[in-house]
Amino acid sequence: MGCQASRRILLLLATIVVATSQPPPTAAQTASCADHTFSGGRLYAACSPLEELDASVHWTYHASNGTADVAFRVPGGSAGWAAWAINPSAVGMLGANTVFAYHDPATGVVAVATAVVDSYTPAFADGDLAFAVHRRGAEYTDGVYAIHATVALPGNSTRQNIVWQAGTSSPDGLPESHQVFGDNVMSSRSWDFRSAEAAVVVDDVPAAPRYSVYRALLRPKNVRTYDSLDHHILDFFTWENLAGLCVQIHGVLNAVSWGVLLPLGVMLARYMRVFPSLDPAWFYLHVACQCSGYVIGAAGWVFGLTLGSPAKGALQHHGHRNIGTALFVLSSLQVSALLIRPKKTVKVRFYWNLYHWSVGYTVVVLGVVNVFKGIGILQPDQKYKHAYLGAVLVLAVVAFVLELVTLTVRFKKGRR
Ligand SMILES: *[C@@H]1O[C@H](CO)[C@@H](O)[C@H](O)[C@H]1NC(C)=O
Ligand SMILES: *[C@@H]1O[C@H](CO)[C@@H](O)[C@H](O)[C@H]1NC(C)=O
Repeated sequence: MGCQASRRILLLLATIVVATSQPPPTAAQTASCADHTFSGGRLYAACSPLEELDASVHWTYHASNGTADVAFRVPGGSAGWAAWAINPSAVGMLGANTVFAYHDPATGVVAVATAVVDSYTPAFADGDLAFAVHRRGAEYTDGVYAIHATVALPGNSTRQNIVWQAGTSSPDGLPESHQVFGDNVMSSRSWDFRSAEAAVVVDDVPAAPRYSVYRALLRPKNVRTYDSLDHHILDFFTWENLAGLCVQIHGVLNAVSWGVLLPLGVMLARYMRVFPSLDPAWFYLHVACQCSGYVIGAAGWVFGLTLGSPAKGALQHHGHRNIGTALFVLSSLQVSALLIRPKKTVKVRFYWNLYHWSVGYTVVVLGVVNVFKGIGILQPDQKYKHAYLGAVLVLAVVAFVLELVTLTVRFKKGRR
């Protein structure tokens, strides 16, 4: 603890020093990108490593006609995609004039496409950008995408907002959502394509140290701050933190409710009611379990919606989201059906039961499936995955044993 605190303070100090002096990348850092040889004999006058996503940018600026040859190298999986963009209108994803590289599923070849990202769920179609693109191409070697293009710098300005990104899946050739926290929301810079030796943009905005301090506190490993101040502090705050926090809250609430409480409530009803002495205790326990599961699950669902919609950089996980919404609708039906439950003696009660059970079991199955889907999307620490798997296994084993026990009880009753 104390060690951590002193590390923080050191980092803080280091950050203030770095932020106020803004040194260019060291020769060694530049060398790590300068060593790279591009295919086709392409050469670039300058390069700079980018800390986020282990990317690097290479460029040659032609002052005579306001164009720049730009290449990005971004590591990524062969099932995924990578991209870089110039955003002429804002910082971040919306408005990014993007050059994408992805594996064409038909041919397996790396293809390149250009598109303007105009929403958080963009429709990707290879099209024109706000500025001229004279040449473009992409290749994939040793797990690294290299995407190059010659562009007319918007407004004939050497100073541009650049963004880069990588995602893990492009199932039908189209990029699918990338993570919405960590490097994936930090990967943007204000860039000066004119400076040939270093990509540092030193600005006179006095907020520099403040921003950097925040950044160091929130993400201690990332001390170096070569980026300029076009980053929005607020932007950063909202997304790095809010998204991360929402992801965690969403995960916990939903795993507890849909993933544990609702199946547990069903088990209580199914197995306790076999024993007459537990009537009506089972009913109250069942209602308590399902109602609290419903309330917690609804809260988790709402958190989930905030992750999928305006989240910076978040495209959507449609399957997971749709199942989530179906769960909410079905369980709302269940809760309201409780209010119109016919008396046990009435004949329609049979149909009500049929309805109640089928919707109930559907919710349980979909709930557990969706929690696993969510775990697959979030890729949390293994221990969370194992904890949930453990909980489900325990429930399953208990259900299996109780199933046998209650079967025996029912059988004996039948014989009497
Ligand atoms: C821009 O100028 C450079 C030389 O300065 C030249 O190599 C390049 O072809 C020009 N690009 C366009 C699109 O005219
Ligand atoms: C871009 O600006 C440079 C000077 O910075 C000028 O020499 C050049 O002609 C301009 N190019 C265009 C296409 O406007």
